[in-house]
Amino acid sequence: MSDQESPPANSGGFGKKVALIGVVLLLLVGIGLIGHHHATRNKRSHEKGELNGEGLYARYCMRCHQADAHGVAGRYPDLLASKLSEEESLASIKTGKAAMPAFGDWFPEDYGLLQTYLQSLKK
Ligand code: HEC
Repeated sequence: MSDQESPPANSGGFGKKVALIGVVLLLLVGIGLIGHHHATRNKRSHEKGELNGEGLYARYCMRCHQADAHGVAGRYPDLLASKLSEEESLASIKTGKAAMPAFGDWFPEDYGLLQTYLQSLKK
């Protein structure tokens, strides 16, 4: 006969469960951060009305298509020689195209400003 108190049957299991929940939470936070990083990588970084067409181009497009918009042969197309219609090029800009990221979260008026600026480079 023993008067020793036996530990609650599942105390060990409880500790493990807490640890497991901790690990799962950390994983979720980690995945969330990665997703956030991807989602914000190419996010709009200007305020409404902050940038004109030239400013938009300089901030978002120039690093690939170059300051003169002639691009880099074999890598980034020459925007001034593009055969796309205005609608088609706008669609490429908003949804992205192959190696080009999407710029779909601008303010509606920004796209017109950008296109007017690109048109002005053609002359
Ligand atoms: C990370 C580099 C990069 C950035 C930044 C970028 N582009 Fe592009 N762009 C590309 C690549 C690469 C292509 C070619 C995609 C393909 O293979 O069809 C392309 C294609 C295009 C096309 C289609 C041209 C054609 O004739 O098919 C347009 C229009 C365009 N880009 C405009 C823009 C504008 C406007 C911006 C800024 C808002 C921009 N791009 C930012 C890399 C980039």
